[in-house]
Amino acid sequence: MEKTAVTDIPLIESIYKRWSPRIFAETPVSNEHLRQILEAARWAPSCFNAQPWSFIVGTQENPETFEKLSECLMPGNKDWAAKASFLILAFTELNFSHNGKPNRDASHDVGLALGNLLNQSTMLGLQAHLMAGFSVESARELFGIPETHATVTMLALGYQVDLEAIPEELRERELAPRTRKPLSEIVFSGSNNEPFFTN
Ligand SMILES: Cc1cc2nc3c(=O)[nH]c(=O)nc-3n(C[C@H](O)[C@H](O)[C@H](O)COP(=O)(O)O)c2cc1C
Repeated sequence: MEKTAVTDIPLIESIYKRWSPRIFAETPVSNEHLRQILEAARWAPSCFNAQPWSFIVGTQENPETFEKLSECLMPGNKDWAAKASFLILAFTELNFSHNGKPNRDASHDVGLALGNLLNQSTMLGLQAHLMAGFSVESARELFGIPETHATVTMLALGYQVDLEAIPEELRERELAPRTRKPLSEIVFSGSNNEPFFTN
């Protein structure tokens, strides 16, 4: 049994199969898969090809970094995310290295890299849950992230759990349907909020 998005028209698997779980299989992550998802992130486009992104990865097998990453999480996230197979902290360089000027797209480009990472993860049977709920100050302090960089987001990842095995008390929350605004509310044909798609 899989939790898939009910899309209005058919989409590629890596999009409709992705979701943000709060429960993961206990299987340790394979190094090959870890390398593949970060390689996918590496190949994202970025403004001036600046590749402003950096990632700190902690796995359950590498408890020192994993613990430090868990410490940064807000309690509501820590409860479930600290049981994930691995955690990632994504951060970004705020100025271009070629001219020292501010890179307006620094966070945007990390988002693109993480989009690639999510697509690749889904195709490998991994699921990721992004989190804004973490202490930026703790992350800076614990990992020595300088002011030249912004911490952007954290992710909890692990292999997709068998949905039938989700404990009863978590089923409602985990299996709730995923919703999105309709295209008519987000795609316009001009300046008068006229929907681009009329049917
Ligand atoms: C930048 C970002 C920050 C998020 N922060 C949190 C968070 O702190 N805690 C949480 O439980 N979910 C967090 N989410 C997950 C969203 O709530 C989730 O993506 C959204 O509800 C859509 O659900 P889906 O990913 O299953 O489609 C975050 C997602 C993004 C993209």
